[in-house]
Amino acid sequence: MSLTFQLERVSCRFGDLAAVDDVSLEIENGERVALIGPSGSGKTTLLRTLNTIRGPDAGTVSVFGEKIDSFGAKQLRKMRSRIALIPQHLGLVPNMSVVQNVVAGRGGKRSTLRSLRDLIVPAKSDVREIHAILERVGIEEKLYNRIDQLSGGQKQRVAIARALFQKPEAILADEPVSAVDPARARDTVKLLTDLSLEKNFTLVVSLHNLELAREFFPRLIGLRGGRVTFDAAPDSIPESEMKALFELTAEELVKEV
Ligand SMILES: Nc1ncnc2c1ncn2[C@@H]1O[C@H](COP(=O)(O)OP(=O)(O)OP(=O)(O)O)[C@@H](O)[C@H]1O
Ligand SMILES: [Mg+2]
Repeated sequence: MSLTFQLERVSCRFGDLAAVDDVSLEIENGERVALIGPSGSGKTTLLRTLNTIRGPDAGTVSVFGEKIDSFGAKQLRKMRSRIALIPQHLGLVPNMSVVQNVVAGRGGKRSTLRSLRDLIVPAKSDVREIHAILERVGIEEKLYNRIDQLSGGQKQRVAIARALFQKPEAILADEPVSAVDPARARDTVKLLTDLSLEKNFTLVVSLHNLELAREFFPRLIGLRGGRVTFDAAPDSIPESEMKALFELTAEELVKEV
């Protein structure tokens, strides 16, 4: 089995703070992994490291079997075009249409000039393809709507459509279901995992919601204070260990007060 991601003793620091602290893990092509952990546990930092936006301060990162530490800007850009990141706040442009936002998904694979032209007048073939993707994610009637006219759940679907238009080999989604009701959250997570199976891309999703992680992902990685606390199938992680992930330590309780 080939690996999408391989981290060996990776640390990412912000000054004195290790946001990711000595993490080693391997994620195979086509795997579906949920990254769970409380606020500040390092989920976003880890996803940005997987996406090669952020290089590690220690350790090595390999993506699709290639060590990226010696990569230049051009090689990194090429690598990133194979991975779609759905950022925590989706990163959509509110005063632009759905089609314009989705077409930007392929920006990394096209020249700057072509990307600019795409934004002004998307090519007919792109519009057809985007329409088909929007159909798959269930919002085809919103093709020409502005982002700021959509609901939270619809915006999540646009962000997923933009990732799909990139034709990625891996999708990283950072808390894609915050700010929607539980039913919508479940639909979105189901859509992402169904798509991963259907299109065979690796999927890594950070989630606060343990129930959704357990229901839809065959592998859960628990993060706390930048460290991996468990990495296993949901059935083999004791309930107490999962709950403990979100419990405040005495020290943290004092800080909260
Ligand atoms: N740009 C930054 N500068 C300084 N510290 C940062 C920066 N980004 C993150 N951190 C710190 O690194 C740690 C991990 O942050 P990160 O955003 O990765 O956590 P998270 O698990 O994604 O949290 P959340 O669930 O709230 O999104 C936190 O303690 C945070 O304060
Ligand atoms: Mg985060």
